Amino acid sequence: MTAHYEVRGPVAVITLDNPPVNGLGFATRAAVAAGVERAEADPAVTALVITGAGKAFSGGADIKEFGSPKALAEPNLLSLIALVEACSKPVVAAIHTVCMGGGLELALGCHYRVAQSGTKVALPEVKLGLLPGAGGTQRLPRALGVEPALNMIVSGEPVEAQMLAMVPGQRLFDKIVDADVLDAAVKFAEEVSEKRPCPKVRDLKARHPNAEAYLQFARNMVGGMSKNFPAPLRCLETVANAVNMKFDDGMRAEREGFMALMMTPESKALRHLFFAERVASKIADVPEDTPLRTVAKVGVIGAGTMGGGISMNFLNAGLPVTILETKQEALDRGVATIRKNYESQVKKGKLKEDKYAQRMALLSTTLNYADLKDCDLIIEAVFEEIGVKEAVFKQLDEVAKPGAILASNTSTLDVDKIASFTKRPQDVVGMHFFSPANVMKLLEVVRGKATAKDVLATVMAIGKKIKKTAVVSGVCDGFIGNRMIEQYSRQAGFLLDEGCTPQQVDKAVEKFGFAMGPFRMGDLAGNDIGWAIRKRRYVDKPGMKYSASSDRLCELGRFGQKTGAGWYDYQAGKRDAIPSPVVDELLKKHRESIGAKTRDISDEEIVHRLVFALVNEAAHLLEEGIAQRASDVDMVYLTGYGFPIWRGGPMCYADTVGLFNVVQAMKRFAKNPMDDGAFWTPAPLLARLVAEGKSFT
Ligand code: 3HC
Ligand code: NAI
Repeated sequence: MTAHYEVRGPVAVITLDNPPVNGLGFATRAAVAAGVERAEADPAVTALVITGAGKAFSGGADIKEFGSPKALAEPNLLSLIALVEACSKPVVAAIHTVCMGGGLELALGCHYRVAQSGTKVALPEVKLGLLPGAGGTQRLPRALGVEPALNMIVSGEPVEAQMLAMVPGQRLFDKIVDADVLDAAVKFAEEVSEKRPCPKVRDLKARHPNAEAYLQFARNMVGGMSKNFPAPLRCLETVANAVNMKFDDGMRAEREGFMALMMTPESKALRHLFFAERVASKIADVPEDTPLRTVAKVGVIGAGTMGGGISMNFLNAGLPVTILETKQEALDRGVATIRKNYESQVKKGKLKEDKYAQRMALLSTTLNYADLKDCDLIIEAVFEEIGVKEAVFKQLDEVAKPGAILASNTSTLDVDKIASFTKRPQDVVGMHFFSPANVMKLLEVVRGKATAKDVLATVMAIGKKIKKTAVVSGVCDGFIGNRMIEQYSRQAGFLLDEGCTPQQVDKAVEKFGFAMGPFRMGDLAGNDIGWAIRKRRYVDKPGMKYSASSDRLCELGRFGQKTGAGWYDYQAGKRDAIPSPVVDELLKKHRESIGAKTRDISDEEIVHRLVFALVNEAAHLLEEGIAQRASDVDMVYLTGYGFPIWRGGPMCYADTVGLFNVVQAMKRFAKNPMDDGAFWTPAPLLARLVAEGKSFT
């Protein structure tokens, strides 16, 4: 059942019942409409209440239906709201917990609204690249006033009902209650059952003392903030119609705007992201009700770059952390860095002094493994050397309590091998954080062949608790993200061989929307890291073709920002990347040494070679079962590698271009003798999808 009907005395109660959040899909809309008609026809009913079962009044239109005929099937949301508004008997919305999007629009179509204090109220459509499409842009400014309504519509952020009830002159809520909202709404409905006419939000005026000047100010603000996203400005113009147009004309314009935005690649990407984010936490063979292990105390080994940032995540979430190091100086250094980070947050007003003190009070340090014996989760972040990892895990095996989760933050080493250093491989898992670990959202959870299901379930839950986007990866060199980035970096190198400058490649990639191009990124992360990995990795792959220009750069000690020079020059204390004559000369000599033929290369070729290299490698990862699903790959790149959000990730982007076109481009790239032709053979999965006319996502 998607909505049910009951009669309480003279009041008909229609309850949306479409778990998890009472999305207003076709069946629910039809059931509510049937309930309204039934109540209209029943002479014993004098008023109606609409409410939601479970944990929401309603989370809005059913996003899963978007793009399918069901989304528009009658009664569509507009028709349903019109039916409710036209009801000859008073209709009261009993609002609780969550009232968002189409859910709020439905409530605004009711004649009265009673809300439970604490209810999160929002029109979040803009976060899906849309505008509210069922009257929200026309009714909310009328009920709440232009300025607060515009703020809600353009930001999409939830506001608690009792805060909105304090807006002077508001007509959004008739009553805010702490007690049971349904009881209160039924009582309220009885009180107003005789009142006529039934009040309609559409009959109110959208209020602002100086609307035109305010809207112009808002245009300037929103325009500047919403580069690459068409929705916020369109939201604004549609809200402006509530001031300047008759209600029905404003509604028509809203519909047009909604339908137009629905077709934009930005909205498709943001909707993809909404579901990708949620599905990433699900693991096919790990049931959602898997009992979790308790994690009340955390140990971190190594207080370096990663150990400090990792610790901060847990301190921020209120969990006590003990950091272990080999030397007191290293501990002192690590703790000082944590302090410095918090102090800078305090200075910027992002963290209160008392919170900072609370967090630091949760932190303890030790040089002694015995002090980790009561930790439930221990994360190792020591040097990236298998011998060092072996020594650490053997000691952990001795002291950790039974059932403790033992995690490694390794970025390249074999988690199965690390697990084999213990007598409890089922408790070992990879937790691959990204630098800076207290900031970056991505957490790759690396599943070893013996990792227990409850360990995985627990680590995914912990990821959520520390506000990370956790994505599961199988064991392979580089896991999902870094294995893909190797192919991207190789392409960037070939482009240099073929005549591009680092700045040309970076500019093209940044214009596409990446936060940073590959060479600026290399300079930030340290070119020596890639150099060390290449030395190790290419021993096993002697035939691997890559541009040795990056080795030549490192041989000059140009490791990046930390040495004041890399692919670019840097002035002391500054981060601005300045094109370098030394690098130009280095590349000239390098090209001569390999007899390179140079040519002009378009921005499109640059971007497509880099991005399709990611896509082809990801298709291999999917085929091998290292990545569970294409949308997980997108989450990795959106949250860990600065891929432009409005493009939805590499796989979503490939789908937008069309996989047939992607493969055609790959065939062209394969013919380039300066490139690695063999790499461009489409991965079997990609070839299969093209043959079947399918897409990744
Ligand atoms: N449609 C379909 N499914 C939805 C949904 C919606 N509007 N909102 C949430 N869900 C699903 C999620 O996909 C998830 O499903 P899963 O369990 O299968 O993964 C489940 O509900 C729970 O979601 P969360 O994990 O996000 O649960 P929370 O309790 O943390 O949050 C929420 C609940 C605040 C409602 C949050 O899900 C949310 O913000 N949802 C989006 C709300 C939204 O954007 N509404 C506008 C829709 S567009 C619209 O209404 C158009 C109209 O103007 C015409
Ligand atoms: P780091 O060199 O900054 O810190 C390592 C710390 O471990 C040092 O403080 C060192 O004293 C300590 N240490 C070494 N051996 C130890 C031992 N036996 N017992 C206790 N402490 C010991 O290194 P970083 O960058 O923090 O890297 C740590 C791990 O995280 C590595 O496995 C690395 O691959 C991984 N990683 C690094 C990322 C980065 O961007 N730096 C990103 C993701 C993972």
